[in-house]
Amino acid sequence: MMLQRKPDLTHADVTPKEIYFNRRKFLQAMGFAGAAAVAGKGLLDLASPRLDARAAGKFPNLAKSPFSTTEKESTFDEVTHYNNFYEFGVDKDQPAKNAQKFRTTPWTVSVEGEVKTKRKFSMDEILKLAPLEERIYRHRCVEGWSIVVPWIGFSLSEIAKLVEPGPKAKYVAFESYYDLGQMPEGKYAGIQLPYVEGLRLDEAMNPLTLLCVGMYGDSLPNQDGAPVRIVIPWKYGFKSIKSIVKIRFVSGEPPCTWNITNPREYGFYSNVNPNVDHPRWSQAKERRLGEIFKRPTLLFNGYQDQVASLYTGMDLKKYY
Ligand code: MTE
Repeated sequence: MMLQRKPDLTHADVTPKEIYFNRRKFLQAMGFAGAAAVAGKGLLDLASPRLDARAAGKFPNLAKSPFSTTEKESTFDEVTHYNNFYEFGVDKDQPAKNAQKFRTTPWTVSVEGEVKTKRKFSMDEILKLAPLEERIYRHRCVEGWSIVVPWIGFSLSEIAKLVEPGPKAKYVAFESYYDLGQMPEGKYAGIQLPYVEGLRLDEAMNPLTLLCVGMYGDSLPNQDGAPVRIVIPWKYGFKSIKSIVKIRFVSGEPPCTWNITNPREYGFYSNVNPNVDHPRWSQAKERRLGEIFKRPTLLFNGYQDQVASLYTGMDLKKYY
């Protein structure tokens, strides 16, 4: 896709500051001075190089996925310059700058816990483990903005087939890489690191749950979670953990970073739900990056046909 046009508006124009500063406000209230120090910056680095990444990319011929939306994709520039990756800074434009030198080779993902065969996969092994597909998913952040991204990867369940979870495995826990040497901004993140996340086993095994190794036809940019992340399109974006090094099949509900940080505001499930407001703002609408007017937010981010049955009989207001 062509990304040469300079946008008329910056993301600061299209996403109100009060929304994306909300979580920072919470961190400030908790006394994290670092978060306060960076709150004044917000504009994008529009001088960054733009590439037609799909044409020139590492993965030019990908299988198409029936799960892909036909909605207009967000631009590569939007998706790579408006990030949440607190290990590299709490401002939206900081990960693009601060993650440039992040070393992602060599990289291994350890799969452990309640499984028949524990295994460590190198990135080369992961890339060959199953046919790579392009999945164009909506991605809705809890802060009220959204993007449409052509991710690359395969269903996480492909990994489970290889390690064979046992009967005690009821949940899956994920852990991100963390190294203060490479991520000095992590000291001021205001959240406990390494970043951790988790899913119920049936959620993790749902075919939509993606082990993601790329986007826009190429490898993942560092700021988007290189070299491998999880993408769960029906949940708020913070569940889609970046730069993972560990996957554990476990018997109990695993800790999750934002839930530990503020359990009243961020639950374990965190399914996108326009009918359950965040305690400090409505979740009924969202602003797609690059658009001016808000659009209605869809239940399960529009993936209800694939996932609603996972929550039959559950009160979604209680299990938020
Ligand atoms: N993973 C790690 N390790 N650290 C983070 O700060 N932020 C989360 C999620 N995964 C985060 C993370 C949040 S809040 C969102 S909205 C998405 O990543 C953002 O993904 P993107 O920057 O690729 O759009």
